[in-house]
Amino acid sequence: MEHAEFVWKNGEIVPWADATVHILTHALHYGSAVFEGVRVYETPHGPCAFRLEDHVKRLLTSGKIYGITPRYGLESLMQACRDISSANHLASAYIRPIAYFGETTMKVVPSTDSRVDVAIAAFPLGAYLGDGAVQHGVDVCVSSWRRPAPSTTPSCAKAAGNYLSGLLIGREAQSRGFAEGIALGADGRLSEGAGENLFLVKEGKLMTPPAGDSILMGITRDTVIKLAQRQGIEVIAQSMPREMLHFADEMFLTGTAAEITPVRSVDRIPVGAGTVGPVTKAIQSAFFGLFSGATTDEWGWLDPIEGQETKRGGANGVYYAV
Ligand SMILES: Cc1ncc(COP(=O)(O)O)c(C=O)c1O
Repeated sequence: MEHAEFVWKNGEIVPWADATVHILTHALHYGSAVFEGVRVYETPHGPCAFRLEDHVKRLLTSGKIYGITPRYGLESLMQACRDISSANHLASAYIRPIAYFGETTMKVVPSTDSRVDVAIAAFPLGAYLGDGAVQHGVDVCVSSWRRPAPSTTPSCAKAAGNYLSGLLIGREAQSRGFAEGIALGADGRLSEGAGENLFLVKEGKLMTPPAGDSILMGITRDTVIKLAQRQGIEVIAQSMPREMLHFADEMFLTGTAAEITPVRSVDRIPVGAGTVGPVTKAIQSAFFGLFSGATTDEWGWLDPIEGQETKRGGANGVYYAV
C-alpha cells in the first residue's frame, strides 16, 4: 500500500506517521469501528470523489446501528474527505474514513458517552483484485466459509468486525489459487464476495442477491443497477441457489475498490465462454464513462475535490488544510 503525506484526524490534518491509536483502544480489541471506502477519479473537470455523499451517509448509518456517533455531521465529514484528498495532492485516490470507539477500556460495552474518534486517510490505490483484473477478469471459488446470518452481526453495516468474515473467505480463496471467494449466506443462498457484491448475467438480464441475503448494500451495486436500467437492461434482485453460478452467461463483482471486475471461472468451471461478456463490457463502459465524461452523470454522483493548499501551523507542528 502506498502512503500519503497526511491523515485527517479529529478535525486536524496530521503527518501520516502521527495518525496512531493506543494499544488498548476499544476498536482494536472489539472491532467497534465503522468505515467507508470512496474512490477519487481523475475527470476532465479535475479530481472528483464518486458518490461521496452516499458513502458518508452509509458511514453514519453503520455507526447508528452500533452507537458509534461521530461528533461531525454529514457536511463536515464530506468536506474533510475532500480536504484530505486535496492536502495529499492526489488526482486519483482511495479515501478511507473511519469512526471508532477510541477509548482505552476493557469493557465490551463502552459507556454511553464514550469518545468516538474519526480519521480519514487518502492514498493511491490501483486494481484491488490484481493487475489486469478489471480488463481480463478473475478466477474465483465458492468459499467454505459462510456470511453471518441475518440477526447476527448486521451485514448492511460496514463495520470493522464484519471483515473477519472477509478475511477468512479471501484468504481461503487465495490459498487455493483463486483471486477471490464467493460466500454463501447461512442458508446456502448466494451472498457476495469477501469485499464485493455479485452480479450474474442470464439471457441479457442482470441478477444480484437482495439485501436480506447477508450482503453489504454496495454503492457500486446501486450504481450498476441504475446504469443498467438506463440502458434498458432488466435487473432482478432475488435469492439464488449456488448452482446459478453455473447457469450464468456472464458474471462480475462490484465494489469501490474492485470497481467492476469480470469473473471468468468459478471453481475452475468457465462462466459462459470464460471471457468478458458483452453485457459486462457495456456496464463497465457506462461506469468508467462517468469519469471520462462519455457517460452523463445525470445523478450528480461526481463530487469535485476543490484544490486547496496545505499550510504548516498549529500546535505540535500539526498541518491544516486551509
Ligand atoms: C463485504 C462487501 N460487500 C460489498 C462491497 C461493495 O460495496 P461498495 O460498492 O459500496 O464499495 C464491499 C466494499 O466496500 C464489501 O466490503
